[in-house]
Amino acid sequence: MKKSIQRRTFLEFLGKGALSLSVTPTLLAGKFFTSIPTNKDLPFVKGIKPSDKDILKLANGLNFHIIARWGDSITPTETFGFNNDFTAFIPLDDSNPDEGLLWVNHEYVDPLFVSAFDGSAEKTKEQVEKEQYNVGGSFIHIRKKKNGKWEMIENAPHNRRISGRTPIPFNWEEPIAGKTEAIGTLGNCSGGVTPWGTILTCEENYDQYYGERNFKNGERVPARIGDFGWYKHYDFPPEHYGWVVEVDPKTGQAQKHVALGRCAHECATIKELEDGRLVVYTGDDAINQCLYKFISSKPGSLSEGTLYVANILLNRWESLNYEESPVLQKLFKNQTEVLIRLREAARSIGGTPLDRPEDIEIDPINGNVLVSLTNNTSVNNYYGSILKIEEENNDHAALTFKSEVYLAGGVETGFACPDNMAFDLAGNLWFTSDISGSLMNKEPYKEFKNNGLFFVPRKGAQAGEVIQVASAPTDAELTGPWFAPDGKTLFLSVQHPGEYSLSMNQLTSHWPDGGEAIPKPAVVAIQGHLLEEILQLY
Ligand code: FEO
Ligand code: CA
Ligand code: CA
Repeated sequence: MKKSIQRRTFLEFLGKGALSLSVTPTLLAGKFFTSIPTNKDLPFVKGIKPSDKDILKLANGLNFHIIARWGDSITPTETFGFNNDFTAFIPLDDSNPDEGLLWVNHEYVDPLFVSAFDGSAEKTKEQVEKEQYNVGGSFIHIRKKKNGKWEMIENAPHNRRISGRTPIPFNWEEPIAGKTEAIGTLGNCSGGVTPWGTILTCEENYDQYYGERNFKNGERVPARIGDFGWYKHYDFPPEHYGWVVEVDPKTGQAQKHVALGRCAHECATIKELEDGRLVVYTGDDAINQCLYKFISSKPGSLSEGTLYVANILLNRWESLNYEESPVLQKLFKNQTEVLIRLREAARSIGGTPLDRPEDIEIDPINGNVLVSLTNNTSVNNYYGSILKIEEENNDHAALTFKSEVYLAGGVETGFACPDNMAFDLAGNLWFTSDISGSLMNKEPYKEFKNNGLFFVPRKGAQAGEVIQVASAPTDAELTGPWFAPDGKTLFLSVQHPGEYSLSMNQLTSHWPDGGEAIPKPAVVAIQGHLLEEILQLY
């Protein structure tokens, strides 16, 4: 796919040489605005109060409709997966922002709904296979109808599933755990889009499926409560998961990028440098784990280059290059082992443990790197924060930086546990929250009620305020915010509604169908005059 008008590229174009908001309206308007916007402030945005209702509640000026939900038929043989997370819209034709492919991550399954596993008996191989099918990701062809609403085109040629059963090769010279190919991708949380229009989907909580290896004695250590136990029927090596995976929308071909390291990758956010080399930021979403960036040595390469870990105390990026590090040479056999055992390697050279680094976005106006730090109960940080990293001279390939807290969660600011972020075309920040379902509506999170979507205006009377604009249904989390190229639609996932249902007879949510229906994760399109008015900020 040729260089696309996908959101980041478009925003980066807007941001180039324009490190302030005083940019001419026509430049900012781009080619998708039908009218020349005026340069006025955003009208007052009235937020919503936190809600504990089993609805997708939106602020005045916003509305939503569903594009796809779990189980929808996308081709004669494929269905839309479970627990949708990251979304990205890839236009098929640069001249048409109203039609394209929507990629959607499917992070994990709720066995109660997906495989009818309720814990009363051992999970069967067939149940595991159903679960494997429902993770990974989907490409669906969508278009805007005459009435302005988006629809999925069933059976379109580019509709396809990548799942926990798809063979995926490693992009690396050496085999990984003896193989050049893994079976499946899983834990697909957030992601990114490359400058050439392919998708990066990130394998986050990979240890829940085939466990993790204890490298001292080589045994698997099934990890974390809620372990899906797939390893009991499929003996796949744990080292085959925990990677950043690239998927081509046109061919469906996928590859696992070993050079970006192995951890609970939340996302992969790419900045293309002027000389064509790439910088990829990625966080390891676990308590006291680290923030990374990869700098390619060649234009467009996701295999040749150096991976670095952030040392926030010394404000510098520490190299994970085996050849240059006596510390790494003492602890590991070679570069491949460093990348497989990334957490240990990173900590051995001074990587700073952080409060669950989740999503990362690059501010399109000033180039700052924002990192969601969701929370860290081990140090009594319950509400989390957003960290700001300013690379030296605003150069994303720099090895030194400044960092500070950009926004702190808490009762004062009205949010807790920030996770996915997105910038709109006017450079306003939007972010979602991820309060754990087990603690939602309980202390110390009680007053935040259900998870939400928040809006932070960049200028005007409300500049810097955190305004809640959506509240998720019961037990759910809002994930994967992504703006359509014209900024008039926000694609958003509603993940795990009703996750704390104890049985099919004790459902905690009936979203989105209501009545006695079972809850279903779904991707929605949010529209409305508030989004239109935001464009007036230009
Ligand atoms: Fe899948 Fe870190 O959220
Ligand atoms: Ca997430
Ligand atoms: Ca999260």
